[in-house]
Amino acid sequence: MKRYGRITGWGKSVPARVLTNFDLEQMVDTSDEWIVTRTGIRERHVVGPGETTATMSLEACRKALEQARVSPEEVDLIIIATSTPDYLCPPVSSMVQDQLGATRAGAFTLVAGCTGFVYGLVTASQFIETGLYERVLVVGVETLSKAVDWTDRATCVLFGDGCGAVLVEASDTPTGILSCELGSDGSDWDALMAPGGGCVKPFSEEVLHNREHYLRMDGKRIFKFATRKMTEAVTNVVRASGLSWDDIDLIIPHQANARITDLAMRRLGVEPEKMMVNVERYGNTSAASIPLALCDALEEGRLQSGDHVVLIGFGAGLTWGAAVLHWQPESEVEELINVEDSPLLASLFKPVRNAVWSTQVAARARLQDMTMAAMTPIYRLQRRIMRK
Ligand code: COA
Repeated sequence: MKRYGRITGWGKSVPARVLTNFDLEQMVDTSDEWIVTRTGIRERHVVGPGETTATMSLEACRKALEQARVSPEEVDLIIIATSTPDYLCPPVSSMVQDQLGATRAGAFTLVAGCTGFVYGLVTASQFIETGLYERVLVVGVETLSKAVDWTDRATCVLFGDGCGAVLVEASDTPTGILSCELGSDGSDWDALMAPGGGCVKPFSEEVLHNREHYLRMDGKRIFKFATRKMTEAVTNVVRASGLSWDDIDLIIPHQANARITDLAMRRLGVEPEKMMVNVERYGNTSAASIPLALCDALEEGRLQSGDHVVLIGFGAGLTWGAAVLHWQPESEVEELINVEDSPLLASLFKPVRNAVWSTQVAARARLQDMTMAAMTPIYRLQRRIMRK
């Protein structure tokens, strides 16, 4: 029987300390007006004493497990997407695995810039679909306040700290990722980087003096890449999912800059209420931004069971990743128990809706297979003619 990866739990963690644009005005030559008009950001959270990538991950994972009513010992794998681990070695994922008490779980840290969470979610779903694992925790987390140069106004106003985590569990009902695209264009690797502190230029007095251990960015190059990739990748995954635009209830993009989201929204022809934007509260939290926005969308009631949501990430690498998800956190049985307003109506309606949706997905998949089978000989013939 085919298996699917269902998100059953989620949780977020942000440091209590908030740094507003007005605070930044006291630190570098900038203004609230410049930051808001160019980025949409009003404030960001930054870690205080004792708060790290590991501590935020731990809090978000605990919340996700609690929500799903799963104990840490039941977790098979922990994937942590981050570019700002506590240490270069050991992997922060093992520290979280231990502190969480996930005694049976494997753990690894994934580095794919701001796209890390989408890469992690797709990876988790694959482990579940192949039947290897039942429960995988996926975390997007960053402590970027330790990686930015607080004297560089071009970067320090953009970033923030935070974490979001989800639990993906095996399910027999069609749900979870319907289509996805993971991409990389390493030809632009230097558009967002920390030049020093790695193996090419290990940490030294020179690195420290030149502040090369901090992030540097070619903002314009990233802006162009991000707006192009958001539009292309979202269009590709929606098409591949077999759904129509009307079936999409919410798009959750990486929260880098409200202008990027705005432009992509106009190019895609999407209504503003279908685009989740919370960059004004957190700034760019890189790998954490999509799971944080997912948690906020749920808190704000913008995502309901049965909805279709598109995730789209882009960032350092340069990388991008998009996925269409069917959002159905409860199993059918749990839904019946949890329905508050009209349990009788819901008990009749939800299984029917689920069955119709499953049939639709299966039919679309079969239709796509048939179309491919029919077209392949025609494509081959066409290629042979063109070669001649
Ligand atoms: N406050 C005030 N002025 C600032 C400033 C700040 N924080 N940062 C830059 N400026 C100045 C520049 O020095 C420049 O001044 P000049 O014209 O006198 O040289 C002016 O503002 C315009 O700078 P520019 O870099 O052209 O601005 P922009 O419109 O391209 O916006 C970004 C800059 C960073 C907001 C924009 O390029 C961007 O969002 N890029 C994508 C970044 C991103 O998302 N990165 C993460 C990827 S995941």
